[in-house]
Amino acid sequence: MDSRLTEIDHVAIAVRDLDAAVAWYEQVFGATVEHREFVESDGVEEALVRVADSYIQLLTPTRDDSPVAKYLATKGEGLHHVAYRVANCAAALDEVKASGARVIDDTPRPGSRGTTVAFIHPKSSFGTLIELVEVNK
Ligand code: CO
Repeated sequence: MDSRLTEIDHVAIAVRDLDAAVAWYEQVFGATVEHREFVESDGVEEALVRVADSYIQLLTPTRDDSPVAKYLATKGEGLHHVAYRVANCAAALDEVKASGARVIDDTPRPGSRGTTVAFIHPKSSFGTLIELVEVNK
């Protein structure tokens, strides 16, 4: 069976100071930010640094009730989730649910950059929060 996961879309890192994190990636790796966006529904601001065909997603909360704010308060800065690209988010999510895995999003929802996304609960996936990303063209 072919894997439904076609690429790593992004690796998300929770940070307290987005500008400082962006500056660090620029200074240390010569990286440039390709996209920056407020995602109001998630209460976050993200900056995407391109690495080949994937991204490092630097993520900071924009309000206290953001899940990322809670994450920073309990776990501190660091790896927040890994996002895999899929051709069809709804179909991939259905397969995940059919396998018995616990999901956070019961149906796909809009993500940043006009993507369609769904999250799988880390309790099902060996401690890693996983995001499925469908890139809409
Ligand atoms: Co993400």
